[in-house]
Amino acid sequence: MAIGTKLIAGNWKMNGLREDGAALARGLAQRAIAAQGGMPACELLVCPPASLLAIMGGLLAGTGIALGGQDCHAAPKGAHTGDISPEMLADAGCSHVILGHSERRHGHGESDAVVREKILGAWRAGLVAILCVGETQSQRQAGRATDIVSAQLAGSVPNGATSDNLVVAYEPVWAIGTGLTATLEDIAAMHTTVRTSIPAGTRILYGGSVNPQNAAAILGLAEVNGALVGGASLDADSFWTIARCCG
Ligand code: PGA
Repeated sequence: MAIGTKLIAGNWKMNGLREDGAALARGLAQRAIAAQGGMPACELLVCPPASLLAIMGGLLAGTGIALGGQDCHAAPKGAHTGDISPEMLADAGCSHVILGHSERRHGHGESDAVVREKILGAWRAGLVAILCVGETQSQRQAGRATDIVSAQLAGSVPNGATSDNLVVAYEPVWAIGTGLTATLEDIAAMHTTVRTSIPAGTRILYGGSVNPQNAAAILGLAEVNGALVGGASLDADSFWTIARCCG
């Protein structure tokens, strides 16, 4: 995977019924097809809820926009009510899966060890794992942001990570869905720290209230290899505008 090409990933979270999910996918597909040779200079990925993967796969086929899951179980199959396996995501047309998102870590008590097992499961199924890391507001205020993120990486990146099977997303927890973003200096500094813990050439995305207004400055940082976009990915115009900030 070429680190020079930025990755813009949309995390729809638990949003979208069939009708609005399909409308959003069609909006993106139309823009991609209309852009033809003038596609944004980045790779695009959308991670809808599992219920929409099948529809999305059909609507995005041939557009160059990739499909991803938002989470998965570590096992290939079995008695895990409510879970989805990496193999199921791959079977539904996914190339990527988001793992260790703060809403999983904090909302579902996922530890680094659990996230590590999930990444191994994702690799088994041939998926690229997008590993999310980030500190809470109190951890940043206590001056522990770098230590927290480094510990998350140490605890959750398995042996065997390469720039082809891993993407890291730095998402300060306090910036997710709040309209707050880290300063450009703090983003650059944290990405520089993250880079010391992962294989050379691995992409590092920034996430946390990325929107059409702040995307150009964030994506303009040499340390930033793309963005993980939540709220702003639910609007085709916003997502496309962010993608076009890649230059
Ligand atoms: P946000 O979400 O862009 O709505 O802050 C980002 C994320 O949680 O991945």
